[in-house]
Amino acid sequence: MDMYEQVIELAKRRGFLWNSFELYGGTAGFYDYGPLGSTLKRRIENIWRQLYVIEEGFMEIETPTIGIEEVFVASGHVGGFSDPLCECTECGEAYRADHLISGIIETADALSNEEVDKIILEHNITCPECGGKLGNATEFNLMFQTKIGPGSGRNGYLRPETAQGMFVNFQRLAKFYREKLPFGTTQIGKSYRNEISPRQGVIRLREFTQAEAEIFIDPSEKTHPEIARFENDVLTLYSQDAQKTGKPESMTIREAIDNNIIAHEFLAYQIALANNFLQRIGISPDKLRFRQHLKDEMAHYAIDCWDAEIWMERFGWVETVGIADRTDYDLMAHAKMSQEELAIYKEYDHPRMIRKFVVKPDMAKLGPLFRKKAKAVADELQKLDEESLSQEEISVIVEGEEYKIPSELITFEEVEEKVSGETVVPHVVEPSYGIDRIFYALMEHAFNTEKVASDDAEEEERTVLKLKSEVAPIQVAVLPLMGKTELSTPAKEIVRKLANRGILASYDESGTIGRRYRRNDEIGTPYAVTIDYDTLKDNTVTIRDRDTMKQVRTSIDTLENTLFELIHEKIRFEDAGVPL
Ligand code: ATP
Ligand code: GLY
Repeated sequence: MDMYEQVIELAKRRGFLWNSFELYGGTAGFYDYGPLGSTLKRRIENIWRQLYVIEEGFMEIETPTIGIEEVFVASGHVGGFSDPLCECTECGEAYRADHLISGIIETADALSNEEVDKIILEHNITCPECGGKLGNATEFNLMFQTKIGPGSGRNGYLRPETAQGMFVNFQRLAKFYREKLPFGTTQIGKSYRNEISPRQGVIRLREFTQAEAEIFIDPSEKTHPEIARFENDVLTLYSQDAQKTGKPESMTIREAIDNNIIAHEFLAYQIALANNFLQRIGISPDKLRFRQHLKDEMAHYAIDCWDAEIWMERFGWVETVGIADRTDYDLMAHAKMSQEELAIYKEYDHPRMIRKFVVKPDMAKLGPLFRKKAKAVADELQKLDEESLSQEEISVIVEGEEYKIPSELITFEEVEEKVSGETVVPHVVEPSYGIDRIFYALMEHAFNTEKVASDDAEEEERTVLKLKSEVAPIQVAVLPLMGKTELSTPAKEIVRKLANRGILASYDESGTIGRRYRRNDEIGTPYAVTIDYDTLKDNTVTIRDRDTMKQVRTSIDTLENTLFELIHEKIRFEDAGVPL
């Protein structure tokens, strides 16, 4: 079994992940989260909320997972959110055409369908399933389409990203944030993509959870007020230039900004925050890098994008977070479609004097000359510059027709004007997290098998999920030495007290202590509390640390606090009691 198979075997057996619709044979691209999986996933999402909503102040909103057609026409998804599809003419199996040739050409996803067809033909590539002839590559839109309402209904789509629900609420959000840039909003929820052939298990799903933040910034503002927080953090960056040499580089965020490797501080701040979050939940830093998209792989809405890529044994470097500079693309697109202004009026701290070029047509003469068109002609004149207005004969085009205006009918001058603000269309920096991929990566990075001494002094192997205690689904296992009432009663009382403190504890009395430790190691429970006959005498219990298997003896009276502090890494295990 390779690492992926080992992790998935454990995940299925212990209630982390199950194939959806297993009862009916299942279908690719869908996974259920079992009791432990749901809890682990929720803990990841809640730490994300801690960082983005509570610490950054990007309030969370919730919008429908179905969107109306206008939204996705404006966003560009109806027109351009597709992958190249190639079907076998014999068995009908479907493939991502670019994946079929990715072993021959590295930038396969940047090729046109005709170029892909040519390579398939030249290299005599046939159906990997049956060896049959492959048809031509065609564009396949990844959105699931639906009808809203009965009959012919209104076209709708399951959202392919949570982002659009935030963009279309821009005016409401701007009011909520009192029209002050920068501000941000977040959303955690399901997104849907009808992936052509999801053969990568939990890595490529047709329904998955995204956690996204849309941060609206003033495009003229180049400095992030909080960048100092992360300036000295060292990240592995794989920029467009570094990709030419094939060597990612380690550097501080400050170095990346100063050397123009990351284009601006708002983008740099978000890359650093993603790095911070991923390491906090337990992604190994040596299996994490940030890769800049090459020019020809950028999404239709982005001018710059850095992916947090995580190393996974079977799949190699996998994109788990995309951090994009979406500029004003989405707001402009929705403004055009909705005919609404999606902008902010930015008041200056102090009014500014600006020099303005003013054109003054003689309307008394323009009126009789151009009649109904006089106003439109005057409006067009306002758009001309000094050089055009200095010609002998001045002309403008109105509704496709040329109008010539004698120069003596126009005067112009430069004046000074006091202005107190300007209208700004904000730019957007967006970190977009795929929670399911992060979930799998965490399980894989935490997965360990080790030789340990067993109850009968023989060596045995233990499987241990070394999850960070903050994300581990069950946080404490409470284990009475035996199932006798005098031990089970105080043990159950401890479970109740821990629950009141918000700690999820399990109670387990069956089997030897050694077996119970193993069961809990396998699901990543960081601490086990053992209640024995000494407990009845001196009111103390043993706490065992999952990773080191060391034990300390501590008082029941302060147990909830001690465990809470251990789980949240406020104290070291050595300081949690008297070592045994
Ligand atoms: P890929 O190139 O792997 O298809 P993408 O570039 O299409 O990914 P984005 O559109 O940037 O991905 O989506 C943002 C995040 O959503 C990704 O970083 C990833 O974690 C997650 N994501 C995207 N597609 C899927 C999917 N089919 N299954 C699970 N997660 C996904
Ligand atoms: N919101 C980024 C993406 O899902 O493509």
